[in-house]
Amino acid sequence: MLNLFDENTFDSHLPQISEQDCTDQQVLDQIWELKKELQDKVILLGHHYQSDDIIQYADITGDSLKLSQKAAQLNNPYTVFCGVHFMAETADILTRDDQDIILPDRNAGCSMADMANDDEVHKAYDYLTSCTKEKIIPITYINCSAKLKSFVGKHDGTICTSSNAQKIIKWAFEQGQKLLFFPDQHLGRNTCYDLGIKLDEMVVYNPHQVNGGLTPEQIQKAKVILWYGFCSVHQGFTKEHIINIKKESPDTIVIVHPECSFDVVQHADDSGSTAYIIDQVEKAAPGTQFAVGTEINLVNRLAQKYTNKTIKSLSPYQCLCTTMYRVRPRWLLASLNAIKEGRAFNIIKVAEEDKHYARMALNRMLEI
Ligand code: 13P
Ligand code: SF4
Repeated sequence: MLNLFDENTFDSHLPQISEQDCTDQQVLDQIWELKKELQDKVILLGHHYQSDDIIQYADITGDSLKLSQKAAQLNNPYTVFCGVHFMAETADILTRDDQDIILPDRNAGCSMADMANDDEVHKAYDYLTSCTKEKIIPITYINCSAKLKSFVGKHDGTICTSSNAQKIIKWAFEQGQKLLFFPDQHLGRNTCYDLGIKLDEMVVYNPHQVNGGLTPEQIQKAKVILWYGFCSVHQGFTKEHIINIKKESPDTIVIVHPECSFDVVQHADDSGSTAYIIDQVEKAAPGTQFAVGTEINLVNRLAQKYTNKTIKSLSPYQCLCTTMYRVRPRWLLASLNAIKEGRAFNIIKVAEEDKHYARMALNRMLEI
């Protein structure tokens, strides 16, 4: 096998496998070889939005909830997380200190997770709690930094994914009278609405405005305070896409992820997490037609797998999560090769000071 590393830069997040050194096919073949060789040491986790040239290697595929449940049970020394940064952090929080979680490209982040930071959330929470005597329970979508997971753990809150958001929000209302939900306003709004909370009982806190753009009266009246965050991939789907598809083909079932806007979820026939979408497509009778409002890699995979059904994207444009797509086979090969040579890189380690409460919040979620 070629030496794919520059000795001086193995600590960098940049893989040292050039196209001159290795063709695409050689890269794919070498990943299979290394995976076999390292099978007792390394587990590969893959989120549903990963591309096929990566997901083919995953030992476990899943949505955010399943991957965190699996991470909590891992026993092997190395886990290569084919997903994004917050997922690798979550796995690190849930595994032992002697286990390493590797994110093949350290720059694989999540733009939504970046829309709420620790300082902003502290500031918001202080302001909101100063405006009301009612107890505010902070709930974060799992798409956030470890620091924010720790924040909710410390403040009697917890974490949710798109698969368990309803259960978690119900639980939160048993603990307090109001909810601060971040960073995804859409998942928060869609889920709370399904639970019977009216739109005028929800307000949006915008961290770029003074006091979030909210008066004390608005906060006192609200049941739910939603953070001004969103997923740029899922915001790409619009109500007009649904109207057009229904005009062309009224029988097509429109199914969308709850990170889509309220309007889109309301006009769709169904909505749910990536795992839910996969399940619905799998269960549908042959001949069923679907227009799916979620990331394009998953939609294309479903279309290829269920050839007796018609599956297409809800949007005519490519809704690709470009950060998920940063994990490319060359990065994966570089990661495996480094593990083999005892110099693993891009190991994601959450700071000790954040781990304790973040783990508490995650365990609370997994128990609920
Ligand atoms: P799920 O994995 O919960 O479906 O969420 C999708 C997503 O956007 C992950 O970042
Ligand atoms: Fe983040 Fe959206 Fe990509 Fe998920 S699909 S990782 S929420 S940017």
